[in-house]
Amino acid sequence: MSHFAYRDGIWHCEDVPVPRIAEEAGTPFYVYSKNALLENYKAMDAAFGDMPHTICYALKANSNLSVNRVLSGAGCGAEVVSGGELFRALKAGYSPDKIVFDGNAKTVAEMRQALEAGICAINVDSENELRVLEQTAKQMGLRARIGLRVNPDVNPETHPKIATGLKTTKFGVDLTKAIACYEHASKSSHLQVVGIQTHIGSQILKVDPFAEAFGKLVDIALSLREKGIGIEFIDIGGGLGIQYNEEAPPTYEAYMAALRPHWERCPVRIITEPGRRMVGNVGNLVTRVLYVKESPVKRFVVVDGAMNDLWRPSMYDAYHGVVAVRETRERFTADVVGGICESGDYFARDRDMGVVQPGEFIAIQSGGAYSSSMSSEYNSRPLVPEVLVDGDQFSVVRRRPSYEEMLRLEM
Ligand code: LLP
Repeated sequence: MSHFAYRDGIWHCEDVPVPRIAEEAGTPFYVYSKNALLENYKAMDAAFGDMPHTICYALKANSNLSVNRVLSGAGCGAEVVSGGELFRALKAGYSPDKIVFDGNAKTVAEMRQALEAGICAINVDSENELRVLEQTAKQMGLRARIGLRVNPDVNPETHPKIATGLKTTKFGVDLTKAIACYEHASKSSHLQVVGIQTHIGSQILKVDPFAEAFGKLVDIALSLREKGIGIEFIDIGGGLGIQYNEEAPPTYEAYMAALRPHWERCPVRIITEPGRRMVGNVGNLVTRVLYVKESPVKRFVVVDGAMNDLWRPSMYDAYHGVVAVRETRERFTADVVGGICESGDYFARDRDMGVVQPGEFIAIQSGGAYSSSMSSEYNSRPLVPEVLVDGDQFSVVRRRPSYEEMLRLEM
């Protein structure tokens, strides 16, 4: 069941009418459904069946502390890619032994931070990084638990900007070099080999690329075993897609069924790093209509949110559903645009949508992932509040900064 729906002609998040939140928080704001989030987590967790696993939610998709506390409280782990995300993950209550640190540009300071926290694994992205981590662990008198991110050269058939497991991308160690890296690491007294990792891309709508990549990781794990190098986990990354428009993303069950035959060849713990699939459809961006403007060739619905609040349409030509918060049978076609001084500032183009008047609200759907977390203060527009709904209750879990606060690091 969707946790965002019309009730009595008004768009609701769970049991809360969206206009009620607007009264308290002002617009624009992000609203998240706590129960949709918990359902996503529990459904993925259950679909693993008897396969031992840890779900390490990718914080970059939505890094709000309260959202993350919901997940950590349910037993979820975290995937982080920066010192800032690690700091957040620990504040949000994720258990260090369920945190993996990915990314291709870790600094020594970040390595130290991760080693001090005692996390599950640092997934190393290159041979050079492996040497730097070894040195860092040596200086600290520690042994770093490491996985190696490999580049499996698999085509995830997604938007080129978010395909990450092809040979031509900057990520991971080439398969032909992986064994040598592991051999080096296994001989080091400051490195402890614990896993193997990859991430092939995002918004992936088929299971075959995951199976292909997972199979390649299992092949490496088996070669390592022959050399006496055992691993604790295989981490297949994130990437499962969601429905924005008319896509039909795979079910969790189909995803697990695709991994299982390979897992049976090497039944160690599986780590997944879902971001979008956990949070994408648990959020809406709610914005107020300021003006409806007719040009000779187009109609523009001008709203108080803008591309700095949600970059995805401008950046990836991404489709996000647009809903008139007051339900209406009357429809028109319009571009929904913000107030940034660029023509790329839009949420929807030539969209058939419910008719809205100035003063009314619009909900931009699928705004839980890579939405608030990617937003900026471009045009000196304050970051928008975030609201978490639980049943008929809601709370503002990030408030809107004042203009003074926006300048505090510069004064
Ligand atoms: N693990 C790693 C190493 C990643 O780089 C990512 C996402 C994930 C996990 C989570 O992937 P997901 O399950 O969310 O697909 N800003 C883009 C998406 C960028 C994804 C970056 N990496 C967008 O708005 O579509």
